[in-house]
Amino acid sequence: MTRSAKYRIVLSAMAVAVIVPATALMVGSALGQNGAEVAEEEELLPPEAFDSISDSAERSAAMFDEMVKVFRHPRCNNCHVDGDRPRQGDDRRLHQPWVRRGDSGFGVPGLRCYSCHNEENFDPAGIPGAVNWHLAPRSMAWEGKSATDICEQLKDPERNGDRSLADIVEHVEKDPLVTWGWAPGGKRASAPGTQAVFVALMGAWVENGAVCPIAD
Ligand code: HEC
Ligand code: HEC
Repeated sequence: MTRSAKYRIVLSAMAVAVIVPATALMVGSALGQNGAEVAEEEELLPPEAFDSISDSAERSAAMFDEMVKVFRHPRCNNCHVDGDRPRQGDDRRLHQPWVRRGDSGFGVPGLRCYSCHNEENFDPAGIPGAVNWHLAPRSMAWEGKSATDICEQLKDPERNGDRSLADIVEHVEKDPLVTWGWAPGGKRASAPGTQAVFVALMGAWVENGAVCPIAD
């Protein structure tokens, strides 16, 4: 190897060493952590973080983009699936043992969700649990959807369980399955931020006009 070739290798190694921490910093910044697959403690910006956006429609859409971090998180979308089976774990693998949604999301006769899932997490066996544990209807599936599609579907009473915007805010504040997302037990990563911040963000999104982000 010639001297100059060695020199180039050292230089490119240095470049990597400089670039990597810079990217890591960006990922952790206020812009969000979309780069990280599932960070253990993903943050969620509070509504005040959007105060500098003077146009209320733009502010509302930006808040929804932030909320999408939660909708897309495995703690929420392992249940909000399009298919016939729930998913599990931070890697969203298909549910084992093999279970199916059945007519109402509670499983099929003989293998209901509540045969295994209790009203609370059962950590010795690693089984998550919360009151009324069942799969969200397909019309409420989020996996693989754009922020715009998630937003429009969430606002549509035909698909959201005939809920008003106020009902949806109340649902994310009080529903035990939503609350579970921030206390999932075992080694599961919690949903981003806190439930209180998520509720505040959704309330502010509604107050500012419940505007959907434009697809890119
Ligand atoms: C035969 C027992 C059994 C039945 C029935 C069952 N589950 Fe599970 N489920 C488990 C176990 C065990 C785990 C934990 C697996 C793990 O985390 O490795 C689990 C995990 C999950 C998770 C993963 C949570 C997460 O984010 O990691 C979801 C979602 C889930 N089940 C939904 C359902 C739904 C919905 C039904 C009914 C349609 C159902 N399960 C029926 C045993 C069962
Ligand atoms: C164990 C499964 C499960 C988990 C986990 C879960 N959900 Fe749901 N979710 C449901 C079911 C079932 C419904 C439908 C309830 C109904 O209509 O009565 C639902 C409905 C909703 C709705 C109502 C409107 C709509 O169009 O979706 C919202 C909003 C929602 N969930 C948010 C969340 C968020 C946020 C999380 C994570 C922090 C979450 N859910 C985690 C099962 C789950």
